[in-house]
Amino acid sequence: MKRTHHCAQLSKSDLGAVVSLLGWVDTIRDQGGIIFVDLRDRKGVTQVKLEAHDNSALAGQLKHLKPESVIGITGKVTARPAGTENPGLATGAIEVEASELEIHNISDTPPFPLDDAGGDKVNEDLRLTYRYLDLRRPKMRRNLAVRHRASKSIRDYFDSQEFIEVETPALFKSTPEGAREYLVPSRIHPGQFYALSQSPQQFKQILMVAGVEKYFQIARCFRDEDLRADRQMEFTQVDVEASFVTREDIYALFEGMLVKVWKDVLGVDIPRPFPRMAFKDAMNRYGVDKPDVRFGLELADLSETFRESSFKVFQATVAGGGAVKALNAKGLADVTQGELKNLEDVAKSLGAKGLAFIKVEGGEWKSPIVKFFTEAEKAELARKLDMADGDIVFFAAAPWEKACAILGRLRLEVAQLLVKRGRMTLRPDDWKFLWVVDFPLMSFDEDEKRYVATHHPFTAPVAEDAALLDSDPKAVRGQHYDVVLNGMELGGGSIRIHQPALQKKVFEDVLKIPADVVESRFGYMLKAFTYGAPPHGGIAFGLDRMVALLCGTTSIRDVIAFPKTQKGQDLMAQSPTPVTPRQLKDLHIATVQPE
Ligand code: AMO
Ligand code: AMP
Repeated sequence: MKRTHHCAQLSKSDLGAVVSLLGWVDTIRDQGGIIFVDLRDRKGVTQVKLEAHDNSALAGQLKHLKPESVIGITGKVTARPAGTENPGLATGAIEVEASELEIHNISDTPPFPLDDAGGDKVNEDLRLTYRYLDLRRPKMRRNLAVRHRASKSIRDYFDSQEFIEVETPALFKSTPEGAREYLVPSRIHPGQFYALSQSPQQFKQILMVAGVEKYFQIARCFRDEDLRADRQMEFTQVDVEASFVTREDIYALFEGMLVKVWKDVLGVDIPRPFPRMAFKDAMNRYGVDKPDVRFGLELADLSETFRESSFKVFQATVAGGGAVKALNAKGLADVTQGELKNLEDVAKSLGAKGLAFIKVEGGEWKSPIVKFFTEAEKAELARKLDMADGDIVFFAAAPWEKACAILGRLRLEVAQLLVKRGRMTLRPDDWKFLWVVDFPLMSFDEDEKRYVATHHPFTAPVAEDAALLDSDPKAVRGQHYDVVLNGMELGGGSIRIHQPALQKKVFEDVLKIPADVVESRFGYMLKAFTYGAPPHGGIAFGLDRMVALLCGTTSIRDVIAFPKTQKGQDLMAQSPTPVTPRQLKDLHIATVQPE
């Protein structure tokens, strides 16, 4: 039997035609002598009908089929009797009266329901174990299609801008400057390892030296990180690099791409240019470098208010160079004890020593700390925080970045509590794109007692700050930019260093990587730069994250066909697994079990 139509295709204009449909049994109902089968393929569903007394042999076979069996049917398209049409279904006006049946496979009963609602209720581990069934659900099928559509739109866009896609190796060398790498032992070089590429960063810069000028790639990247909803050990980047460009060129290029993707995939026009925010402002106002600006609830800085305070916790923090930040959770004075405890736990998990608060109820300030405040301090608080009845204000006194981070996280928790109470709406399709710019080039790592690159060591300093590299590395801004959407870091990139002397200086003098290590890790790159490296810059963004947002889901696992669990396992194929002693011997590897 050969398929003549797909299962979302037939309508009243096909009445009388004899058609053949192939697919899966979605549901089967025996209504006293009339058997109805909803037959499903990747496009949709068509109702098949069989009158048992007309065709008892066929009915006998059909009746015993379980859902998810694979069949083909041939029959005539007929109109459904008046009153039995289903306007919710593309093919809801017709049905096919079966005259022939072909059974390809009889399915066992699936371990969970394959409709959207039913599947959403089951444990994700079960869905991942039977991923091939999970992917039959309409929602998952749609996610895969959206991903395809987005990738195609991206390829078309870069092609139209005269970029070419170049593949770069997954097996690279270990250059541990970023996330932890996956190592791959070499069989032919005992004791030596490749590293799986964390990103094509170094290769794309080399491609610029090679004169490619405009490169892009939809590239698989590997990072041995703790997994989260928005992090996988292998993920996909849309990776871009171009020569003779400025930051403005990259902003324009990338905004153009995002505008096209949103139009092609969702039919939505997103406005450009995207707003820009300096890293410092993002931290000060939203407590994070990837602010969700769909809502306000901005943080306030009260360091000056409490510089001379008699409340020692705040006064001492400011005296020690730290900051006192506050967040007015407007309208959340009715926070429950349990919710408050949870907020406190969240703050403490980020290193907060406590979570002071003031509740405003019935014109009164209820708080364990207001007794320490002067009238002047209270007046300033009320003014700076726009405090009104029904509000609750939270405080964090800590080093500036930590105080920002604590309240930045609380701001998101508070938003959820307000959404739950119906006092705020947060629409996933309220697309708020944003460039975050002016990051510091370096930050000081207290554990390692040395400067580390905020982004990566190839980022160029802002030209007018370069002179400060020796005297005050912290003060140097990098030519780095992140693109943020609704609180998610979608991508990031920079204009790169292209002068070998400056790159060497950053490695050796600023990052304090010993010269011999620089030579063995990056020597090839420094050498390449001595043969005419053009000025260049680029960006990479997470395709998985973007597709997740386009699909309205918060987990990138929903948009990856075969993701790993939070514990890094593939529950379907069951990996990782032990290997044989013989395999290990071939690779010159001995394993040691942890204690
Ligand atoms: P970066 O490390 O910021 O930059 O990565 C770019 C983007 O990749 C996505 N991403 C991830 N997505 C899923 N799972 C992960 N584990 C994961 N890690 C990162 C994010 C992130 O914004 N080479 C530079 C880019 C450049 O400078 O051009 C780079 O890799 O969306
Ligand atoms: P204490 O004097 O330590 O009992 O703290 C008084 C109040 O201030 C308590 O509600 C603490 O939770 C809170 N608190 C203590 N340290 C901090 C801090 N660093 N930031 C914000 N609140 C704090």
